Amino acid sequence: TKKIVIAIDGFSSCGKSTFAKAIAKRLNYLYIDSGAMYRAVTLEFLRSGLIKDGKVDTSRVDEILKNINISFSYDSDRKEYLTTLNGEVVESEIRSPEVANNVSLVAAIPEVRTRLVELQRELGKEKGIVMDGRDIGTVVFPNAELKIFMTADPLVRAQRRLKELQAKGVDISLDEVLSNIQERDYLDQNREVAPLRKADDAVILDNTNMTVDDQMNWVENLVKSVT
Ligand code: C5P
Repeated sequence: TKKIVIAIDGFSSCGKSTFAKAIAKRLNYLYIDSGAMYRAVTLEFLRSGLIKDGKVDTSRVDEILKNINISFSYDSDRKEYLTTLNGEVVESEIRSPEVANNVSLVAAIPEVRTRLVELQRELGKEKGIVMDGRDIGTVVFPNAELKIFMTADPLVRAQRRLKELQAKGVDISLDEVLSNIQERDYLDQNREVAPLRKADDAVILDNTNMTVDDQMNWVENLVKSVT
């Protein structure tokens, strides 16, 4: 069967990465988490003191972007790729509430998007990849053979995310998680550059009442139809 590019976009905390990883595993494809790249840039901006009171100091954006190196290193124990920022594994740092609260702000900066899209296309040069994000089917890989747009009820998404965060020992309430999700949805859909929207040729997957297995059964036929 031929190898394809699978683009998965959708709202925050829809389970995109869980789903994308499961597909990649099943097909023996490479999985790339584009959100992790925006999160890593956000972490660097925070560390450099560029974000204050919900505003980004854009005067040093070019300088920071020039010196930033984001890659994915394979961890054979965890059997996953870990996000690396300038040689440091930052997988857990980029999942912090502080990064989550600021990432949509950073992701709206045109220079940041140009740089990361370039990197994403480079990583996806060889077919046989699953990439998830917000603009993968619309901007990064408009010719992807299979595009999926994921959505789910916001409250269900908040409950799922809360469970995950609590399991990691993060102290946060359902309300806080829900409002972060709603704020990110709003910012992602309403930004000027590459806003979150369904590509015309994307298939919608609403997983409010679906398990990962349900979703895998659903996607299997789709994959067969295009490979
Ligand atoms: O997917 P994840 O929730 O980790 O993404 C974090 C944030 O990164 C999103 O809320 C969005 O602002 C930004 N993002 C983006 N474009 C992508 C992936 C993520 O703007 N392709």
